[in-house]
Amino acid sequence: MDREEAKREIEKLTEELLRHNYLYFVKNQPEISDYEYDMLLRRLKELEERYPEFKLPYSPTSRVGGQPVEGFETVKHSIPMISLDNAYNEGELLNFNERVEKILGYSVEYTAEPKIDGIGLALIYKNGILTSAITRGDGIQGDNVIENAKTITNIPLKIYDNVPETFEVRGEVFLPFETFRQINKEKEENGEEVFANPRNAVAGTIRLKDPKIAAKRKMKMYCYQVITEETFLPDSHFERLKLLNKLGFSTPPHTLKLKNIKEVIEYCKRFEEAIKPALTFPVDGMVIKVDNVKLWDVLGTTAKFPRYAIAFKFKPEQATTKVLDVTFQVGRTGIITPVAELEPVKLAGTTVKRATLHNFDEIKRLDVRIGDTVFVEKAGEIIPKVVKVAVSKRSGKEKAIEPPKNCPVCGEPVVQFEGEVAIRCINPSCPAILKNSILHFVSRDAMDIRGMGESLVDRLMEKNLLKDFSSIYELKKEQIASLERMGEKSAENLLKEIEKSKQKPFHNVLYALGIRYVGQKAAKLLATHFKSIDNLINASVEQIAEIEGIGEKIAESVKKYFSLKHNLELIEKLKKHGLQFKTEEKEKGEQPLKGLTFVLTGELENFTRKEATEFLESLGAKVSSSVSKKTSYVIVGKNPGSKFRKAVKLGVKTVDEQFLLNFVEKYKNKR
Ligand code: IVH
Repeated sequence: MDREEAKREIEKLTEELLRHNYLYFVKNQPEISDYEYDMLLRRLKELEERYPEFKLPYSPTSRVGGQPVEGFETVKHSIPMISLDNAYNEGELLNFNERVEKILGYSVEYTAEPKIDGIGLALIYKNGILTSAITRGDGIQGDNVIENAKTITNIPLKIYDNVPETFEVRGEVFLPFETFRQINKEKEENGEEVFANPRNAVAGTIRLKDPKIAAKRKMKMYCYQVITEETFLPDSHFERLKLLNKLGFSTPPHTLKLKNIKEVIEYCKRFEEAIKPALTFPVDGMVIKVDNVKLWDVLGTTAKFPRYAIAFKFKPEQATTKVLDVTFQVGRTGIITPVAELEPVKLAGTTVKRATLHNFDEIKRLDVRIGDTVFVEKAGEIIPKVVKVAVSKRSGKEKAIEPPKNCPVCGEPVVQFEGEVAIRCINPSCPAILKNSILHFVSRDAMDIRGMGESLVDRLMEKNLLKDFSSIYELKKEQIASLERMGEKSAENLLKEIEKSKQKPFHNVLYALGIRYVGQKAAKLLATHFKSIDNLINASVEQIAEIEGIGEKIAESVKKYFSLKHNLELIEKLKKHGLQFKTEEKEKGEQPLKGLTFVLTGELENFTRKEATEFLESLGAKVSSSVSKKTSYVIVGKNPGSKFRKAVKLGVKTVDEQFLLNFVEKYKNKR
């Protein structure tokens, strides 16, 4: 065979195999047997090995996993990957519908689709070829896990129909129950820790560095959103899903278009009772979306969630089992949590061995004793909880649970602060507190030091190498490499990660410190307002509490943190290691619209919503999603929604798109 022939045959086999894939996965109408498929695949693999230069980027052989990757590239999403507000009962679904009707002034049709319990992924196609696959990440940017995504057999590597040059499809990657059980069985046999549930398992799998292992995990994806030129897409969400099917994507099965909220509620009930128990993949609710996508912009979003969709969450699943013992866990803040050690039981597709009892008030309230038969429930949290005791099953031999007098880890006496339920260990050098503080410090939303997981922190602590956060930055290559299950290469990788973390912005550092009540949001507000740690240290409780979104409780906790000498010393050490303790100043241009609040309604001809918002904000304006008396101007585009009527009713000034264009004219070169 000459090179030309080989090239042609590789192309032919690639196309043929992809077509059979499509017939099998999408159409459910295979034309050849699995054996014949494998033979064609083997032939292609042989040819690709001999002539690697002709291998196509979308070759079906990449399904079995290519070369391991070093790390993942971080990529910004084309538009944020948002999450949805939840409804837990019929009433909350009715409220959702009421708000939709109130804004629009009429009732609408809905699409109801199963809410897949996996992880969100965005697939990017350029000229029909899959070129990247980005995890949800923080919603704004995620990791490109393309090599692992290629192993997901129901994701098309190439779209055959004509689609716009840039084409993005989003959906949920998940593990079918059967595959999940198989993975855990193997893990157990190898003496490894098992995954708590299919969701954790898929989250771990999509981030594996070795696509060959990922391929063996047999992930699947159901798609529910397409982002491309609007003119290419039908207005109906339901029709968009059908279009995705036609293009080769799998969408959530059992999706229906429904006439009104009454039908939606009936379907949610029927699905939960009759369809869900027989499903082979994890579903934790039903997503309800206004079917006409054109109305999504009109409905807009609240501060956190879109108003055009809601997630109806199913009731958590319950099981009964026996409490074998109660152990105590010490968290980052020293709080001691009682945990029930259970006789293993199946719950929502996973085996449960432990359940939280929260605190000692809860133990009293439930009157739970060792030896009791209890109901355990899983409500999305990783560790399930005990919800009730089956009192009738008592034998009389059950033992009461006594709160510990000493910390189970360091042995120091525990304390209970006035007005608090929690029992705490307050020994600052308690290894459990230090360990959990370090795990928080290195976690993804904080310093994001990848590879520094629980087992590594344990090993470093055993060797006395971690005394506080600053010790992380003093670790030497030989110290890490000499640990069990570590080597030169993994030590180098960890040091790279540690070095990289020094570039994390000030608000991440502030959050990483683990100041009580200072979560990510508060850390961001504090960093933006005070701009440097020194300003924050010198601020009074009143000055801190003045910031909108920060209350007395946070302000006092911050002040208390900085009043302790060892915390100030720690910050000095971290500063010396080069961590960011200042907010980078963005250069601002003129702010002619400072102090004014704008609302946008209707379609603009020259801007997308996002562009108009960003432009207004760059001129100092605030852009809000709802009209009130405080609104300065409503910018009205074509086919305006209820916001226009509301503006007129309230006497708020309205202007058209020309208003924006005038500003563009004036400031275009300065932005
Ligand atoms: S729609 C505008 N549909 O659940 C689109 N999400 O809290 C927003 N999910 O982050 C998402 N199944 O990761 C949508 N059929 C479905 C879904 C679904 C699972 C996930 C998704 C999202 C979260 C919503």
